[in-house]
Amino acid sequence: MTEQRKKINLPYLFKKVQDGEPITWLTCYDYPTAYLQEQAGVEMILVGDSLGMTMLGYDSTLPVTMDDMIRHTQAVRRGAPTAFVIGDMPYMSYQPSVETAIRNAGRFMAEAGCDAIKLEGGAQMADKIKGIVDAGIPAIGHLGLTPQSVSALGGFRVQGKSAALAKRILDDAKALEKAGAFAILLELVPDRLCQLITEQAENCIIMSLGSGPHAHGQLLIYHDMFGLYPKFKPRMAKVFGNAGEVILNGLKGYVQEVTTGVFPQPENWFGMPDEEYDELVKTMKTGA
Ligand code: KIV
Repeated sequence: MTEQRKKINLPYLFKKVQDGEPITWLTCYDYPTAYLQEQAGVEMILVGDSLGMTMLGYDSTLPVTMDDMIRHTQAVRRGAPTAFVIGDMPYMSYQPSVETAIRNAGRFMAEAGCDAIKLEGGAQMADKIKGIVDAGIPAIGHLGLTPQSVSALGGFRVQGKSAALAKRILDDAKALEKAGAFAILLELVPDRLCQLITEQAENCIIMSLGSGPHAHGQLLIYHDMFGLYPKFKPRMAKVFGNAGEVILNGLKGYVQEVTTGVFPQPENWFGMPDEEYDELVKTMKTGA
């Protein structure tokens, strides 16, 4: 992408749905990656609270704060000025009350220049979605595997495999759409459940993360795509390149070259005119 594209907005996203064109969505947490995603034409960017794991090295997303999220989202916004940037509401930034949810969603918009926010949970979060949407902030729901509730869900595993649990997710999707969510992310639900929810959605964009091809678009975690998360690679993730390996080899090369004196070379440093150097040495000797 050489020319700056137009700002991605809600009418653009709904037009893609209407035209049957899949929407592209990735996670991102920093300026240089946001710059690259913008250049590549990625349409939606999620500044996920997964940054707690991918960037900050925690074992879960739970310790992530609003201040962490705002700092990273600001950097992403600077790198991707035309992408549709979504701030992910971290743990306990919306669960306690509708007012807390609206205030923190408002921070994403006012302090980080977001286009929308995302929060996890079904019908029990409908009042928070409604409050946020009524405050004029576009909101995305998140169903299926919701990492903030990973303990209650029994681990990182597919959700909604039984008819009863699938029905609950379907009902949750309806409740979120009714509450005003303009989009819902389905993470790790069976492909046929994702298809049913997509077919039944009336005015809501359904996005898939590991939930099959029948949604209106796809989301992937950037670090999983490029071998940048050392602890594990989820089965649903496709590796599009091994940047982790490239960087590791480069780092080993650096250590080797410094150790053996190959780096630096004259092109890596700056000299000083002879007369200035001689003057310096003279000054040091005389102390003047
Ligand atoms: O935080 C995040 O990146 C997310 C994805 C797992 C969807 O919420």
